[in-house]
Amino acid sequence: MNRTIKSCCSRWLRRAAALACGLLAALTAGCGAAEAEPRVLRVGVALYTQDDTFISTIAQELERMAREEEQARGLRINLSVVDGRSNQTTQLEQIDSLIGRGCDALCVNIVDRTAAAVLIDKAQKAEVPVIFFNRQPVAEDMLRWEHAYYVGAKAEEGGILQGRLVLEAWQTDPTLDRNGDGVLQYVMLEGEPGHQDAMLRTEYAVKTLTDAGVAVEKLASDTANWKRGQAMAKAQQWLDEGLGGSVEVVFANNDDMALGAIDAFKQAGEELPLVVGVDATAPALEAVAAGELYGTVRNDGAGIARSMLDLVLALAEEQDPAEAVELEDGHYVWLPYRAVTARDLEEPAA
Ligand code: GAL
Ligand code: CA
Repeated sequence: MNRTIKSCCSRWLRRAAALACGLLAALTAGCGAAEAEPRVLRVGVALYTQDDTFISTIAQELERMAREEEQARGLRINLSVVDGRSNQTTQLEQIDSLIGRGCDALCVNIVDRTAAAVLIDKAQKAEVPVIFFNRQPVAEDMLRWEHAYYVGAKAEEGGILQGRLVLEAWQTDPTLDRNGDGVLQYVMLEGEPGHQDAMLRTEYAVKTLTDAGVAVEKLASDTANWKRGQAMAKAQQWLDEGLGGSVEVVFANNDDMALGAIDAFKQAGEELPLVVGVDATAPALEAVAAGELYGTVRNDGAGIARSMLDLVLALAEEQDPAEAVELEDGHYVWLPYRAVTARDLEEPAA
């Protein structure tokens, strides 16, 4: 009898012990899994189009820096990059879906910079901070919500630096005035109509020269939508119209268009005028080194990516974003432009 009770008891004890062990194992396995599973940050990145040299470098930088942060912080950063294919309706649908899938922050390279209000309202409703970049929404829209930010460079500064490059060349090299009339004859290749960088770079590049007392004459100007192929076609057309020999300077709102103009002059066998761009893309820097592109203005794509990521991380940690980035008026992060000519390429890396 005693033995029966004993064996019964021990059986019960064994079962209880096994159960407890199982429970403990399950618990610790659970805890272990939670420890091993890093926190996931979901970031939606909406590009106006993927088919843009400068924008694709920003996306690449963002991807690279996110991987570095994952290593450094022991978290996972899921970037969902979507291509708006230059269509605002498409981009809004993509953003709806990113919000629907529960993203923690949005980085938006908006297609139509006048259409930010609806997007900011959607983000606010879902409480997802929205960081615009490169394509600047109108100022009133940015005031709709405290968690709407813009990261980019000041468009007029890009124009001023480009104008100064030409001014310096004009003042130091008399052969630039090909026809010797004391007037600077130029053509202008513009980015997308309505883009802050197209409008302000165009205006301030020329204004920098006229403010310095240089007489200028615009021979032709047209939009080539930031694209090398379109710029080549426009320049080709100007050359066909016989402008070739009279162009002293080609201003292009970006490097791809500057390279397109160079393509056209080279193909036509025309002597290259002084050509300037903006962005400092890799092919543009090669053209500077080859002496075909006189200069460019560095558009800090890596800086844009860095500031966006710093903002995303700060917001995710519920830190004050002003501690993570230099925030102007509570909404803006400004990256500086920098002029680049062959002289800068010769300087040894700091
Ligand atoms: C500009 C850049 C262009 C193009 C455009 C797209 O800042 O210079 O090359 O990328 O942004 O919004
Ligand atoms: Ca002249």
